[in-house]
Amino acid sequence: MTTTPRKAVTVPLLAELKLHGQKITMITAYDATFAAIVDASGVDVILVGDSVATTVQGEANTIPVTMEEMEYHVRLVRRAAPKALVVGDLPFGSYQVGSSQAVANSVRLIKAGAQAVKLEGGLTIADSIRAIADADIPIMGHIGLTPQSVHRMGGHKVQGRRDGFEAGGRQRLLEDAHAVEQAGAFAVVLEGIPALLAAEITTKLSIPTIGIGAGAQCDGQVLVLHDVLGLSLRELTFTKKFADIRGASTDACRQFVDEVRAGLWPDDAHSFE
Ligand code: KIV
Repeated sequence: MTTTPRKAVTVPLLAELKLHGQKITMITAYDATFAAIVDASGVDVILVGDSVATTVQGEANTIPVTMEEMEYHVRLVRRAAPKALVVGDLPFGSYQVGSSQAVANSVRLIKAGAQAVKLEGGLTIADSIRAIADADIPIMGHIGLTPQSVHRMGGHKVQGRRDGFEAGGRQRLLEDAHAVEQAGAFAVVLEGIPALLAAEITTKLSIPTIGIGAGAQCDGQVLVLHDVLGLSLRELTFTKKFADIRGASTDACRQFVDEVRAGLWPDDAHSFE
């Protein structure tokens, strides 16, 4: 049986997937080993997320991660992901100062190997989205539960549950979604919002929506790799362990420790004459 070789995923392809009602998939990765594994799964997009702060660096939230660190992780992932579209996250502090800072730091991530960048926010950040898009850099938005706003939100809290035009209100999220699209984003992540609101935004926007904790009606879905693999300790309603790699890894290390202590490792087959 012959199989068609998988084509590299591009920004225009994602628009076509929405047009044809085909779901878009995105998973995070932060290093070459896992990027190769994720790429081989056939995923459409690999997000080098600022979630690297919590998954890899052991931080409590995404605030501390720096531009230099994001460039480093983008470089590692790009080397090992020949097919998926690689999106690099702009970390907290790398675009909030203004449009020219946002463009300059987007350029840095593109030079490190990203094919697109992502930032958090809607209305208030629309000028920066426009400036990045005008610099010919594909830009993905991210609204709803935006982890970089953890201090304003008072924790990682579901947004859009109450009516209102102020930050976190239902009507404001609809405005944010339109602002992101009109500013030139090619897709938008909807995180931690009620499924019905995500469905409404998905119907109203022409660009793809990619949900996490936003129900099944989004055009695509994203999860953090460490949650997918069961590497993280966190148990959240909107994540799912598709494997128990943490358990399997501890078992493998424990077996090594036991075999060394019992004098069983290394055996003759793994020793030189
Ligand atoms: O950094 C990240 O992993 C993200 C996803 C949760 C969308 O922004």
